[in-house]
Amino acid sequence: MTVSMCRRLSYVAVLTLAIVAGTATTQSRPNVAAHGMVASPEPLATDVGVAILKAGGNAFDAAAAVQFALAVTYPAAGNIGGGGFMVGLTAVGETFALDFREEAPAASTEDMFVDGDGEMVAGLSTRTHKGVGVPGSVDGMLELVDQYGTLTRADVLAPAIRLARDGFPVSYALAGSLQRNERLRQFASSVEAFGLEGDGPDMGDLLQQPDLAATLEAVARDGRDGFYTGRVADLIVADMQANGGLITHEDLRRYGAEWREPLIFEHAEYQLVTHPVPSSGGMTIAQTLAVLNMPVLERVGYHSAQAISMVTEAQRLAFADRNYWLGDPAFFDVPVTRLLSRDYMEQRRRLLPQNGMAGTSTGVSHGPLESDETTHFTVADRWGNVAAITTTLNSGYGLGAVATGAGFLWNNEMDNFSARPGIPNQYGLLGAEANSVQPGKRPLSSMTPTIVRRFGDFYMTMGSPGGPTIINTVLQIYLNVTVWGMDIQQAIDAPRIHHQWLPDRIDYEPFAISAETRAELERMGYELNERRSIGMAAGIKKTPEGFLAGYADRRGAGTARGY
Ligand code: GLY
Repeated sequence: MTVSMCRRLSYVAVLTLAIVAGTATTQSRPNVAAHGMVASPEPLATDVGVAILKAGGNAFDAAAAVQFALAVTYPAAGNIGGGGFMVGLTAVGETFALDFREEAPAASTEDMFVDGDGEMVAGLSTRTHKGVGVPGSVDGMLELVDQYGTLTRADVLAPAIRLARDGFPVSYALAGSLQRNERLRQFASSVEAFGLEGDGPDMGDLLQQPDLAATLEAVARDGRDGFYTGRVADLIVADMQANGGLITHEDLRRYGAEWREPLIFEHAEYQLVTHPVPSSGGMTIAQTLAVLNMPVLERVGYHSAQAISMVTEAQRLAFADRNYWLGDPAFFDVPVTRLLSRDYMEQRRRLLPQNGMAGTSTGVSHGPLESDETTHFTVADRWGNVAAITTTLNSGYGLGAVATGAGFLWNNEMDNFSARPGIPNQYGLLGAEANSVQPGKRPLSSMTPTIVRRFGDFYMTMGSPGGPTIINTVLQIYLNVTVWGMDIQQAIDAPRIHHQWLPDRIDYEPFAISAETRAELERMGYELNERRSIGMAAGIKKTPEGFLAGYADRRGAGTARGY
């Protein structure tokens, strides 16, 4: 039994509770601090990051510690069984991108998720161990600490190990999320790990995860060998073999996070530093901004029918390209320079509807060329280092299966490949050859960790979960701050809209548009769809005085804290 009631708490757990008691779980204004700031979707993980900063670690040490802590306290998306992308800015102005995305196992095949008729087999990529990609988070975070950190890997892993071994009190948000999740209950290993016998843990129960603690201890002791070879690797391979998964010892041994040149582009007086392919977010935002007529956007006003139409039409074009041209650059020659070139953008701009009516996605394809659950957190320190990390298991709780004996949840990231050109994945995204399944390939992602500089200085950083809605969430936070003059809290809390080419409709959150605006958009020919929530962002912005203002989205139970 890994979950026990509060009245049986150990001394250590009571201490943990005492720390939590001082932690607000929601905030209505940005938290402002002078020396460092952490914004994450889970308060205990935020506190871990702040403690690392206070102990003298830099933003990269703290970011790695938050990533490992989230794997314990935020199992819906925090992970060591998944992967992610990071962009970083150092105190001396160097920028970098780190790709720790999952990889298709060597035994993967292009048609592994379709039947003899070429139809997608329901659930094969999302609900079975065949959907698991070789996990990258452990190697990514160890690389980060090694290259840019100042503490040891044991230092940054210690808080996560403590939380897993000693346990932590289940929050209201986690209790509800675990109790509601049906997929977890289908796997005995997950029922055992999260105490899901009966109704599942209640708020305040102590959740201990001894198997996860042992895995994290192995990483602290042996580095990447503690995960990708040795006992943990044996457990992983045994779990795969028992459940029809593909990952082998060789897949694990071969995996390596990749350092990449960040995708950097200018917009007005701002410079956006984002992740390149196989993340599609930066490219899609760059194309959207290049097509948007900014003076007109400013004139028509925030969330007016014309503004929503302008952003939608730009997104329609950018997502059409995204879904055709983007994929893992090691396997597909992504024409990045051409897609972002001035004359190509001019060609695309000419496709914007000129009659004030909605365009159609069937009329828009990729341009001809000549020649559900993820999470984001961010850390800034007093020296000027900034870390923005988006990390995922793909679906909430990934596959839903804990790796037997190893204590961590499996991703179902293989669903981010295009199973067959023309067949949508779980996000309704259509893909093409660039993103077909191939052994050793990384699936295209929408994760968009972003840092914005202004006149060379750090200005803000943001990111979000939400599959393809990530891209539009990051875009809107950027526009909310730079065009509409919002602070970081207002920019993150503001209701969002989303369009992704196909399906051809505008999704919007409650209160995003008025009844009049909706009627006007419908008159223009748009289909509209209200949905409960889009994205769950975290961000940090520099105040005019040079302080750090952090905020974690009202849509979740996260916190931003600094010192
Ligand atoms: N798994 C969601 C994404 O990578 O965009």
